[in-house]
Amino acid sequence: MPFKMDEEGRNKLIDSVASHKREFEGLLHPLESLTPDKPAVFISVGGGELGDLAITSAKRLYGGASGGVKTVAFDRYQGFPAQDAADASEVFNMMDGELLEKYLKKYVPDPSAPHAIYLEVEKIDTYRAFRLGTEKGYKVMSTPFGPLVCMDRHATKIMFDRLKLKRVDWEYANDDRGVHEAAKDFGLPVIVKPVMTSSGHGTSIVKTKAELDTSYAHAVEHARGIGDEVIVERYLPELKAMGTEITQIVVRHFDENGKITDSFLPPIEHKRPGAAYHESWLPASISGSAAEACKEGAQKIADFMGGIGVYAVEQFVIGDKVYNNEVANRPHDTGLVTRWMLNMDEGGVQLTSTIGLQLNPFSLEISRQGVYGVAHVVLAPPDIEGEMKVSGWDSSRLSALQTKGVRGDFWYFGKPTAYQGRRMGLAVAFQRDLELARRNAEIIAHYAEGCISYGGTS
Ligand SMILES: Nc1ncnc2c1ncn2[C@@H]1O[C@H](COP(=O)(O)OP(=O)(O)OP(=O)(O)O)[C@@H](O)[C@H]1O
Ligand SMILES: [Mg+2]
Repeated sequence: MPFKMDEEGRNKLIDSVASHKREFEGLLHPLESLTPDKPAVFISVGGGELGDLAITSAKRLYGGASGGVKTVAFDRYQGFPAQDAADASEVFNMMDGELLEKYLKKYVPDPSAPHAIYLEVEKIDTYRAFRLGTEKGYKVMSTPFGPLVCMDRHATKIMFDRLKLKRVDWEYANDDRGVHEAAKDFGLPVIVKPVMTSSGHGTSIVKTKAELDTSYAHAVEHARGIGDEVIVERYLPELKAMGTEITQIVVRHFDENGKITDSFLPPIEHKRPGAAYHESWLPASISGSAAEACKEGAQKIADFMGGIGVYAVEQFVIGDKVYNNEVANRPHDTGLVTRWMLNMDEGGVQLTSTIGLQLNPFSLEISRQGVYGVAHVVLAPPDIEGEMKVSGWDSSRLSALQTKGVRGDFWYFGKPTAYQGRRMGLAVAFQRDLELARRNAEIIAHYAEGCISYGGTS
């Protein structure tokens, strides 16, 4: 690691962002035209549903390799969603920096040729990706240092404070005592999170002293990264009771003058019973002034980080108050709903912007006027043991819902195996009334869950 990941190292990382940004943006150029003889190469490192949305957009929007955009997708298992849609694919452990470099170089031997590398998943050798971007000229988007800042909760919070952004009160702790001290400062409840995590792994909402005693060990045990640090935040009970959550996506892209500019997707609203993504919709129901605050926070972050491509900023909204929570320097799972609700979905936006093409602001407008479009996750059952093969899915049964007046759609990802609660697809429903759309999306999702059958170990 170039930075020791303690408080001082993280501050140095944030200090270095401005100079990295200048250097990296100096390497980026608009792509004037697409040439089938020498296609731009778009590589999705990770090929789940978010990668699939970007990879398929190359064909949908630009005619694929014969139109001038060749796609490549990597993942760790055969049969991953983007594999059959991509022009080429590789299956390997992306945490292995040697292999990651080898395969990137296989498809982009000359980093000065038009290409873009989209880091779709977090479980990759991010430091190798950083070095390939900063030392060898590879176009790791949105920036090669993005994952170092955005995947590290402590570094992200330091960035928020530098930018004077509103966020929940937080402290970091290196041991049990530190967690107790932070809890004393804030008062219970607090939420204790590993520095590196996602989908709530290792996170606990602490309401009692007894829970506090085990929260540090739990966070460290389930952390994704190395180190023994945790983040303690003041818990906002009013978020679930009367607030809502937003993902504000900003895209940095070239404009008609060849300058990098920011454009905004409409705020995407989401609610979650637990910590993981469950349902999201467009348009959002927040107030105009909350929407402005969401946009302002997201713009400051994207401008600070720089590069080109998508930044997705997670925000908590309570009335007109907006708290910035996390940042992803890539498309976001709550944004999958853009496939149905925007003129161009977030995958197309990521591909278009990162290969250096201009983006038409009209692409970011809502396509279905007068309705709410709600997406709801379709999950594998909670009682699966280990990893199981998917033995089939019966799409014809879904049509039964039409007769019940449920209006919607279903996207099946085609993953070859499942484990407990794995995301297998996405249901979507459209209605003028938001609550009805949410109920309908849930009906489709639960019905679809029953159409997938599992059998045998993989
Ligand atoms: N301080 C807080 N107060 C109230 N609720 C919170 C707080 N922090 C997190 N949450 C709830 O927990 C969810 C997950 O938190 P967060 O995004 O920080 O963790 P995560 O593990 O990275 O999750 P994901 O990968 O799904 O984004 C939030 O979307 C929110 O619903
Ligand atoms: Mg989150």
